[in-house]
Amino acid sequence: MTALTQTAIWRALKAHHAAIEDLHLRTLFADDPGRAIRFSAEGAGLFLDYSKNRITDETLRLLFLLAENCGVAERRAAMFSGAKINTTERRAVLHMALRAPRGTRMTVDGVDVVPDVHKVLDAMARFATGIRNGEITGHTGKRIRNVVNIGIGGSYLGPEMAYFALRAFSDRSMIFRFVANVDGTDFHEATLDLDAAETLFIVSSKTFTTLETMTNAATARAWIVEKLGTDAAVGKHFAAISTNIGGVTNFGIDVANTFGFWDWVGGRYSMDSAIGLSTMIAVGPDNFSAMLAGFHAMDEHFRTAPPSRNLPLLLGLLSVWYNNFFSAQTIGIMPYAAHLARFPAYLQQLQMESNGKHVDLDGQVVDYQTGPIIWGESGTDGQHSFYQLLHQGTKLVPCDLIGFCSPLSPLTEQHDLLMANLFAQSEALAFGKTAEALKAEGSPDFQTPFRVAEGNRPTNTILAQKLDPATLGSLVALYEHSVFTQGTIWSIDSFDQWGVELGKVLAIHIIPELDRDAEPKLSHDTSTNALIGRYRRLRG
Ligand code: F6P
Repeated sequence: MTALTQTAIWRALKAHHAAIEDLHLRTLFADDPGRAIRFSAEGAGLFLDYSKNRITDETLRLLFLLAENCGVAERRAAMFSGAKINTTERRAVLHMALRAPRGTRMTVDGVDVVPDVHKVLDAMARFATGIRNGEITGHTGKRIRNVVNIGIGGSYLGPEMAYFALRAFSDRSMIFRFVANVDGTDFHEATLDLDAAETLFIVSSKTFTTLETMTNAATARAWIVEKLGTDAAVGKHFAAISTNIGGVTNFGIDVANTFGFWDWVGGRYSMDSAIGLSTMIAVGPDNFSAMLAGFHAMDEHFRTAPPSRNLPLLLGLLSVWYNNFFSAQTIGIMPYAAHLARFPAYLQQLQMESNGKHVDLDGQVVDYQTGPIIWGESGTDGQHSFYQLLHQGTKLVPCDLIGFCSPLSPLTEQHDLLMANLFAQSEALAFGKTAEALKAEGSPDFQTPFRVAEGNRPTNTILAQKLDPATLGSLVALYEHSVFTQGTIWSIDSFDQWGVELGKVLAIHIIPELDRDAEPKLSHDTSTNALIGRYRRLRG
């Protein structure tokens, strides 16, 4: 197979980049009144304005050709068909089945998985309803009012992000907490003010072996037993989500409170599986179903919309454009919605664990950049912190600005202020401020060089009616499929995560070396030996 960077289309994109890299968005907009309309697309309840990107019609033509040459459509069809496209783990990638409507058919190894998906969803709905209406109680008969999700990575970021995103739809009489970090303060702070008799722990772990989660789960078990005075309380205060049902049983969690999922769901693609149980308890089964419908609408959009209107394809290709041709190292995600404060962190795992790879599907080291660094902050907070660098720094940081037309609070005028900021930022980043304009405004000459804003900083603007469950589903699926598109262009496995293993293994070696009774003979490098020694001396 020809290496990506040697292909004719890659070279054509390189040449095209050289030809247009100095073109300014001011010129592109001035010369083309139809640009904003032409470079916008809509699907599954989301509107994408991508006109403020450093692209022309020719850029898009070439990027679509790149997608065609890299087989995005074929790999997408393979993914939806249940083929084992996660080749390094020999697994199918079928998170789309998690939101497939009842009665549709999606197969893995020839078996339709949709009926099992709905069996689990129905069991989750019974459990969630029982908790919400008080029919399922704790050991002492008290109503469950506190839900603590214990999990990390994909078993944490999605549930936490979704809970905060959909807070306006949640049962406000209940408290939801999320414990991920193995730092004992995380568990301690999350439970400090809770009544154990009213607390349900949901242990979420795909593998049910993850050190952090197993440690926190054991701590939670001891906490319940100590507070309620009996081992018998465990059954009523724990639920588990896992693909490893044997592991759950060994831990002592009741099978009736155990909800499964499947190896064809990657951890970072699992917030709409049983991993979303805390979300379902918070917002109720109907809102959870609406979220799944939003996911599904975007799946269908991605599968069927033509390239020029296909939101995930466009987003993915634009990311490749900046990553590989403009050498941009990062992409900023700026949701103009306080409820989406955890969305950048969620997308960090989704994108960086998926596409942070250095070898291609054949195991060959790549000679091009893969996944960009994803980061972000909710607007307008970021504006008063790091936007200075976005406007006048020396780095190119393409950003996605995400906003909603209807507010979730009754403070509608404040919502107008919020959205005014979003629109102003995309305008300022694109068009900047010239020395001439400053002069005309009477800016003193000595300040001019410091006040000039170059502009030509690209943004996508994503708008939706309202941050409701369906919109959240389509927003997450938009990025899932954008990640897929990028991974396909780079010919990498976006569904494994071997890179996180080494650190885990080394930590396992170090744990006994920190034992207070041990006098370990350290055999690491001199730096690690000295750090461990210092810690042993100073920990008190
Ligand atoms: O360490 C990375 C990782 O394997 C993620 O991919 C995953 O989401 C997380 O750990 C948690 O894994 P589990 O759900 O099996 O506890």
